[in-house]
Amino acid sequence: MDMPINRRGIEVEPRKDVAIPADSERGIPLLRMTKERYTFDDIVVDGKTRQRLSRIVAENRSAKRLRRHGLAPKQKILLCGEPGTGKTLSAKIIGSAMGCPFVHVVFDALVSPLLGETAANLRKVFDFVEKGRYVVLFDEFDMIGKDRADPQEHGEIKRVVNNFMQMLDGYGGDSILIAATNHHRLLDAAVWRRFDEVVKLGVPDARQRAELFEKYMGAMKSDAVDASEFAEGTPGYSAADVAAVCVDALRKCVMDRHASVSEGDVLWALEEQGHRKGIMVSK
Ligand SMILES: Nc1ncnc2c1ncn2[C@@H]1O[C@H](COP(=O)(O)OP(=O)(O)OP(=O)(O)O)[C@@H](O)[C@H]1O
Ligand SMILES: [Mg+2]
Repeated sequence: MDMPINRRGIEVEPRKDVAIPADSERGIPLLRMTKERYTFDDIVVDGKTRQRLSRIVAENRSAKRLRRHGLAPKQKILLCGEPGTGKTLSAKIIGSAMGCPFVHVVFDALVSPLLGETAANLRKVFDFVEKGRYVVLFDEFDMIGKDRADPQEHGEIKRVVNNFMQMLDGYGGDSILIAATNHHRLLDAAVWRRFDEVVKLGVPDARQRAELFEKYMGAMKSDAVDASEFAEGTPGYSAADVAAVCVDALRKCVMDRHASVSEGDVLWALEEQGHRKGIMVSK
């Protein structure tokens, strides 16, 4: 889910000589290409995580220097963490910092009901990204990264996992490949080993939640609103949950024609969010 207050992607046209790959049977585009405009200031994470993410950018910016020494930058990255902790956001930040187009691989389109078509789609995506310099997000990667021993999975998925690993092994392009998953425990060891870096995005602690409340209420926050108090009362909330509460509070504030967000607006938004979370756990 992308918050409306920080949706900063602009669709970009591919170069004239490269067509966006599509599923042959259904004609659905297999990826979306955007230019993202995020910065490291947009994400609230602990210091170590921030360092790991910025190191990926630094290494890829200095790829030539590393290569002169027979080394390669980390290009195959696995982002894991609970829903709404900033996996997609991190990938977009890396894309923005690298200054190259951000390629979002659409899994719904990639996974085809036709035998062998999913692997063919994957090949098309790899062929496409190998020809340019992109930051590529294989989102909801658990769909194809599922443990190959899982008896629930039918053969096609298993074949695709093998294919994906072979393609990762054979990958020699300049693009950064990022896979994101909510279910890293489901990934098998062979998949795990293929990544140069694994970054775990955590659920924010109280201090980080306070930072998120401050950030998302921004200039509309009144001095009477105590972000740390709300942070204390929202244990287990993901960054996206806090962002959603703030957007709701801002919306109410605007609808009620208040000059700035009041404590009442936030309390109302928290109640709404609590209601939503309640439905989620009871479903
Ligand atoms: N760590 C964070 N710092 C600041 N904002 C965040 C963070 N994580 C999430 N958000 C906010 O929540 C929105 C959704 O987050 P994002 O899509 O990156 O989560 P995700 O981990 O990819 O979730 P999912 O597993 O559901 O795909 C972001 O656009 C941003 O507004
Ligand atoms: Mg995501």
